[in-house]
Amino acid sequence: MMQESMLSARRSPPSQEEDDGDDESKIRKHAFLAARISMHARLASASHCLAVSLSLLLLLLVASFFLSRSRPVICVPAYDSIARTTLFEASLEGLASDFGSLGVPWCRSKHGKTVEWTTKDLLKGLEEFVPIYETRPIKNNMYGMGFDHSFGLWFMARWLKPDLMIESGAFKGHSTWVLRQAMPGTRIISLSPRHPEKYLKKGPAYVDANCTYFSGKDFLDFGSVDWGNVMRKHGISDLSRVLVFFDDHQNELKRLKQALKAGFRHLIFEDNYDTGTGDHYSLRQICDQFYIRGGGHSCFKDSDEARIRMKRKRFWEKAVDVDVLCGEGEAWWGVKGYMRDDFNHSNKAISYAEHFQNSRFVESVLDVYWELPPVAGPSLTHQTRYDPSRAPDPIVEDGTYGLFRRLGLARLETSVFNGYTQMVYLQISAPTS
Ligand SMILES: C[S@@+](CC[C@H](N)C(=O)[O-])C[C@H]1O[C@@H](n2cnc3c(N)ncnc32)[C@H](O)[C@@H]1O
Ligand SMILES: *[C@@H]1O[C@H](CO)[C@@H](O)[C@H](O)[C@H]1NC(C)=O
Ligand SMILES: *[C@@H]1O[C@H](CO)[C@@H](O)[C@H](O)[C@H]1NC(C)=O
Repeated sequence: MMQESMLSARRSPPSQEEDDGDDESKIRKHAFLAARISMHARLASASHCLAVSLSLLLLLLVASFFLSRSRPVICVPAYDSIARTTLFEASLEGLASDFGSLGVPWCRSKHGKTVEWTTKDLLKGLEEFVPIYETRPIKNNMYGMGFDHSFGLWFMARWLKPDLMIESGAFKGHSTWVLRQAMPGTRIISLSPRHPEKYLKKGPAYVDANCTYFSGKDFLDFGSVDWGNVMRKHGISDLSRVLVFFDDHQNELKRLKQALKAGFRHLIFEDNYDTGTGDHYSLRQICDQFYIRGGGHSCFKDSDEARIRMKRKRFWEKAVDVDVLCGEGEAWWGVKGYMRDDFNHSNKAISYAEHFQNSRFVESVLDVYWELPPVAGPSLTHQTRYDPSRAPDPIVEDGTYGLFRRLGLARLETSVFNGYTQMVYLQISAPTS
């Protein structure tokens, strides 16, 4: 069996990930980024100050005739911290709208059905989940799930109330623990090459008493399991009462087909990487198509996209520019035109035609596609990784610190907000045709 190494653990390139646990380097990085951002802001404000002042004068003259209300204009001394924060947020907003106007790709479902839960439900869930999360056995889950996805998994499992939960990719068992918190009396089946108990020797891990482990010498890949047989053994006759959670970094198209063949209906994918990023072909990548709002890309070096991407890379570690996005022959789909699989251990070039067919297939089986929003805006969580303009609007919006604190989110270490990668919930059924 594949040896479990650092490589077999968390998200894409180790070079980007291995600093996760290194608090010092992270703090340095944060400070560096903050400095870059405020420098950028100051430079911008200095060079624009004169122009702004002049136009302001003109504007005031005109406006005083017509208006009683005026909008605040940003032209402030550099060392006023409140003003700097305002400036920071204003520039974030400005940047978000660059991509925001393009939107982000979203998979289309067969009948436009969506989930039952609302933002209000998510907010209520957050309030309940924070104290639960604080009791987690694995405090530092480097290479595993952070807060956003833990919340998403817990919330959805609890909402859907499955009769059985299947997990593929357990690592030290944090997600098993999350599933257990959501459904205290429900059976879990966990597939992972290495049994979570192996990690107990070195530190915290979670082994569940009501879980069937397919691991160690009993390991089977999700695609090799005789699910009919296993479901019978567990007394499950209605497969629509089963929730399957994938955090195994496998090609999501492959997993989707395997799940469909077995007859499962409810799937959650942990790492739904954006186009040009990640170590496996994801739903997000598959549905990134020219005919979908926010989809399709330009690899042209002088394009608006190239310019916007370059700008955003200064702010967000995971933002990629067109050099990283695009491969030979201007291939932008997947990662540089490749369909990655198995932690990028396999890497297959596909044509645009094939990529397009993949999306048509996905659309033909999708009843619901729902991306978990980030729990809170970056000015609240201080995350500097994912680009908010490539994600849905956060549950707790920027500028609502009171709410952030009321929900208990301010008590958490900021590093737990770093792992967001558009976790997605799918409801699937056989193609109708
Ligand atoms: C990112 S970690 C999972 C993190 C975990 N869900 C958590 O909450 O922290 C990925 C895990 O998938 C396991 N894995 C590798 N290949 C797999 C496969 N084919 N099927 C299931 N799990 C696999 C790895 O060994 C690793 O434990
Ligand atoms: C993924 O695999 C390809 C081909 O083996 C390699 O060129 C690339 O650098 C890998 N990327 C990462 C992030 O590991
Ligand atoms: C396992 O679950 C069953 C029923 O769901 C319950 O009766 C039993 O007490 C659980 N066992 C443990 C060790 O939690």
